[in-house]
Amino acid sequence: MIHSTDLATKEATAETNTSPVKLQPGLEGVVLSETRLSRVDGERGELILAGYPLEEIAPRATYEEMVFLLWTGQLPDALELDQLHGDLASRREIPAITLELLRQAAGRKVKPMDALRMAVASLELCDDPPPSRFEGEALSVVARIPGLVATYARLRRGEEPIAPRLDLGHSASLLYQLHGKAPEAAAIRALDTYLATVIDHGANASTFAARVIISTRADIISALVGALGALKGPLHGGAPGPALDMVFEIATPERAEPVLRAKLAAGERLMGFGHRVYKVRDPRAEVLGREAERLFGQSGDSALYDLVRHVEKVALALLAEHKPGRRLETNVEFYTALLLHGLGIKSDHFTPIFAMGRAAGWIAHCREQQALDRLIRPRLHYVGAVNRSFIDLALRAKTATAP
Ligand code: ACO
Repeated sequence: MIHSTDLATKEATAETNTSPVKLQPGLEGVVLSETRLSRVDGERGELILAGYPLEEIAPRATYEEMVFLLWTGQLPDALELDQLHGDLASRREIPAITLELLRQAAGRKVKPMDALRMAVASLELCDDPPPSRFEGEALSVVARIPGLVATYARLRRGEEPIAPRLDLGHSASLLYQLHGKAPEAAAIRALDTYLATVIDHGANASTFAARVIISTRADIISALVGALGALKGPLHGGAPGPALDMVFEIATPERAEPVLRAKLAAGERLMGFGHRVYKVRDPRAEVLGREAERLFGQSGDSALYDLVRHVEKVALALLAEHKPGRRLETNVEFYTALLLHGLGIKSDHFTPIFAMGRAAGWIAHCREQQALDRLIRPRLHYVGAVNRSFIDLALRAKTATAP
């Protein structure tokens, strides 16, 4: 059955087929809408989060403060922060259905990001009655992600999950449930800095996916599940694990150049370098690099930190030589890998931790998109065949030709 809207689209497509069309592959440079959440300046290497320069706010704010900022436009006062902390902590428990799902997934060695996607999807089933208000739903998802990530990490290594402690903040709660002991202040600060750094970043692929889904007036869980799917890919949030693997493969400073040269000669991309928007060093790499320096400096083991800095230097020189004029610089994922490794997190859990940080940003974008209430629906320029005649099945094998 052909709907009138389809007909309208066909007519429009026929028109565009006869007139020149300006395509924007990857929607590069296309402005989707206005936002108050973050401003990304790719030429100057600047990131503003709801008015605050990244370098100013990320090393000082807690994740809860960032959530409040993105969801309300203001930093909280002490009372508001206390209230948000309580709202999140009281929702931390993982529902029985989701826990069972994670156990089954661990038994089948499902990858952590796939397990997180399934677990978040299952939250729809868990609350009785389900929270109807956007706020309740949003809080429940954000509150539960650290527990989902930590629980799955433990199940994967054959350990029992640890129940959440309600007195701990968001970052501390993840580290406690992951490692089974109360984390040190430096580790909590490092994770808060990381989560604050990645909480939002313009119309990146996963945020765009969330906006598309919520623009259909679907629910927040669906939007987050779509965003998680988009985040997983190696060109987006899936890069830090491979970035660290690359550093471990290099192992010693003198091997950096031959190993990286071989990768580039084989046509591989160096993970943690290059960005669609940043044509200078990603400011998030700077903030996370400094945090990693602090963390590794305090632990007294700076060998890995020094190796990473050396690999970065060599990689940048080789990228400039291999792809002259492309302006491939260090992106957020390179130092994400180092920092999360320093917090005792295994590389296959880097992307789920990224999702933990970005979740509140996705939700803030969903709110902005809901306020716009405009279905996101771009067009495609049709370049396929036209005026083909239908051939009955019995005759098709002999006569049909490939388009
Ligand atoms: N290593 C080697 N070559 C690269 C790299 C890299 N890391 N990044 C881009 N290039 C090359 C491309 O092959 C391309 O070469 P060509 O023009 O000769 O074909 C050229 O540089 C331009 O690259 P594009 O594909 O146009 O860049 P785009 O804007 O699409 O890609 C991206 C950005 C996906 C991040 C890319 O730089 C990349 O794949 N980097 C490695 C993966 C990575 O670090 N991802 C995390 C990104 S940060 C985030 O999403 C949170």
